[in-house]
Amino acid sequence: MRTRIAVLVSGGGTNLQALMDAQARGEIPSGEIVLVVSNNPNAYALERAKRAGIDTAVCTRPDMERKILSALSEHGIEMVILAGFMAILSKDFVSRYPDRIINIHPSLIPSFCGEGFYGLRVHRAALDYGVKVTGATVHYVNEIPDGGRIICQKAVDIQDGDTPEALQRRVMEQAEWLLLPRAAEIVANRIRLEKIS
Ligand code: GRF
Repeated sequence: MRTRIAVLVSGGGTNLQALMDAQARGEIPSGEIVLVVSNNPNAYALERAKRAGIDTAVCTRPDMERKILSALSEHGIEMVILAGFMAILSKDFVSRYPDRIINIHPSLIPSFCGEGFYGLRVHRAALDYGVKVTGATVHYVNEIPDGGRIICQKAVDIQDGDTPEALQRRVMEQAEWLLLPRAAEIVANRIRLEKIS
């Protein structure tokens, strides 16, 4: 019985696309993406999900978390992946899915993470600091922004003349889009084995 996965998105959905493509290639055998939820009705990620025939839900404020929890429950969701999801989830929300929510962050945590570090801001901070290596991290989600246990990381070289946009693209291509499917399979398999043990 495959682990039923929901992916939470807010924007372009390139990480969602990487997950769906990996699933299509049979690289996430322990899980099945059955729902995509966005807090942004205009998120292109929703188009990507619809094209792939995956159910979608738009859950906006007010009561965003209640709406999301309802959609997750209706779909029998066992695991949640935050893929470019731009809202902070409360301790109450996170506590309903202990060790079952994972997030992709575009830096090598603990660098350039936490409150206010998201999207291009992360890469701008890395360039401003002058680090020579950055990368991406997949971690479990707890109530502290980017604070949960690390699952996997991948380093990416910074090149002379990098702009935040160029660096973001490289980190996506060389790290995020590889790490998230791998982490999804690791966690989906752990949950699957817990169910049958
Ligand atoms: C990416 O930089 C990702 O690391 C961050 O959100 C950005 C957009 O991701 N979490 P996506 O294209 O919407 O997946």
